Amino acid sequence: MADQKPAAEIADLLQEDRTFPPPEAFRAQASVRDEAVYARAARDPEGFWAGFASELEWFSPWTSVLDWKPPHARWFVGGTLNASVNCVDRHVRGARRNKAAIIWEGEPGDRRTLTYFDLYRQVSQFANVLTSLGVRRGDRVAIYLPLVPELAIAMLACARIGAIHSVVFGGFSAESLRDRINDAAATLLITADGGWRRGQVVPLKQMADEALKETPSIKNVVIVARLHDSAAPVHVKEGRDHWYHLLMQEASYTCEPERMDAEDMLYILYTSGTTGKPKGIVHTTGGYLVGTYATTKWVFDLKDEDVFWCTADIGWVTGHSYVVYGPLANGATVVMYEGAPDWPQRDRFWEIVERYGVTIFYTAPTAIRAFMRWGTEWPRRRDLSSLRLLGSVGEPINPEAWVWYYRHVGGERCPVVDTWWQTETGSILITPLPGLTTCKPGSATRPFPGISAEIRTDQGETVEVGGGFLVLTRPWPSMLRGIYGDPDRYVTQYWSRWTPDIYFTGDGAKRDRDGFFWLLGRVDDVLNVAGHRIGTMEVESALVDHPRVAEAAVVGRSHEIKGQAVAAFVTLKEGVQGGDVLMSELKDHVVRKIGAIARPDDVIFTADLPKTRSGKIMRRLLRDIAEGKALGDTTTLADPNVIARLKEQYQETGE
Ligand code: WTA
Repeated sequence: MADQKPAAEIADLLQEDRTFPPPEAFRAQASVRDEAVYARAARDPEGFWAGFASELEWFSPWTSVLDWKPPHARWFVGGTLNASVNCVDRHVRGARRNKAAIIWEGEPGDRRTLTYFDLYRQVSQFANVLTSLGVRRGDRVAIYLPLVPELAIAMLACARIGAIHSVVFGGFSAESLRDRINDAAATLLITADGGWRRGQVVPLKQMADEALKETPSIKNVVIVARLHDSAAPVHVKEGRDHWYHLLMQEASYTCEPERMDAEDMLYILYTSGTTGKPKGIVHTTGGYLVGTYATTKWVFDLKDEDVFWCTADIGWVTGHSYVVYGPLANGATVVMYEGAPDWPQRDRFWEIVERYGVTIFYTAPTAIRAFMRWGTEWPRRRDLSSLRLLGSVGEPINPEAWVWYYRHVGGERCPVVDTWWQTETGSILITPLPGLTTCKPGSATRPFPGISAEIRTDQGETVEVGGGFLVLTRPWPSMLRGIYGDPDRYVTQYWSRWTPDIYFTGDGAKRDRDGFFWLLGRVDDVLNVAGHRIGTMEVESALVDHPRVAEAAVVGRSHEIKGQAVAAFVTLKEGVQGGDVLMSELKDHVVRKIGAIARPDDVIFTADLPKTRSGKIMRRLLRDIAEGKALGDTTTLADPNVIARLKEQYQETGE
């Protein structure tokens, strides 16, 4: 864990005194209004979680709520259940049978609505399809789809037969897809002929074909016909590739769900860490479902009449937990939109809110900052009066953006819940409860009931008021259970900084006098670009993979819309000259290796990188240069002249 910046340093810069109590009309109807929930959960956290668990449907009950042998937890020990039964079957048996489960809109404007009964049938059918293609309990299934209903159907169908899904975001490159398939040894891939993004076709099957050249474990490929005809010609490999709609025509509507142990794996989701290799975060069935169910219900004050729209792509954890599992376990109506927020115009999101009467809207600060820049006329054009609650996730939200969101989207009547969590935590952990919490813009406020978070110093001392490292000091049901295929990394990465019962989040934070948490960003070599996690080492590996690059160091710099942007300092091999052509070639190379989300904003060619006398790259100095800031301590630098040269160059080439 190289070079951590003390959170306390930046903590002092944050000053925000405005407070926003729950708007009265909202408070009056909110389900959770009693402060006592916190004390009750703190007294008996296991009982608190068991209360939510008992609202779900189990084949057989658990014998103990928690078995905690730090850092390994088992929740709802001995219980058996099926996630798809909880997300569909149980709603079909009652009044929600004909309720809209998914309201979907494609970017070109095509629309579909699936009721819970539709969803139930299609999940069962596709589960039978998977079985007919040889997928068995415990097998891994890779999913590489645009944001279409078939993505949720595929996940739930896997869950139904006990297969483990690994969803790969459609914006990732062929190589990223290949590596994820191989890491999990997936036997089947579900993809599409393509998807739409800003009026362009994203040729997913073509990219998948590239990946499939080197994925020996894949036996079958299922292709969803999203574009149907023309737009992208699709290669269908005889015997391996099958069209989704043809398989579905043959499939029966009934499929007996597998009885899964609470601790059986539900899915793997890859996320960036501090090495060049993404980690396959493992979530299990019972605890994950309890965590997402409980937080969707309480954080979003969910009611049966709500229309819930989380704008995240399902390729990220936010989509797993708050497009699919959390809302569907609650029997909610979920909106899904395939495309870009500014397509064909900058009011597309508000048009969708108006069209479907969205009541709860959950998005990322990077989107809010873009809306701010586009101006208030766009939300003003549409009727947003159906909205009653707003949420934010993925990165720290600056107070200015919070207040803008509250005013111009929420019309000052909707609470804003700033929710902190991670792929690893599975569900929201630090958040307001909207009927209860008086919010301060920029603060994620307090740990959810039953969650225990603290600020620690490097030495492990607890900081009551002030800055430091954010840690979690008690296990929670939806916590990750491991890193796929790498049990040691699970322990060293998260549980080894102090004692093995303390989870290190990788985030810096400060706690104020009211016990509110203010998130300050990552303290490790992980960037957060437009709400997406990117490891600096991954980008560095992609760069040094280029034949002309000798060495690369990647840092984040602040960016008005994206929060952070990627700045790459590159030294070239002997005799190679930098220049605009090579610069864009290197950016494209990173896109090819990882995906467009990792494209460097700045590439700075340099003869040397600032190193300590022992040869370690001093990233802190590079960050300061990229930010155009005064430089920190340079006394340990091997060659002090490097810095002066770099600063000069950055001013010339940096954007
Ligand atoms: C950051 C996304 C501040 C944080 C759910 C965390 C946040 C990382 C917030 C996880 C927030 C997420 N305020 N920072 N409300 N929410 N983060 O795994 O740095 O994609 O560690 O999960 O995003 O990113 P991930």
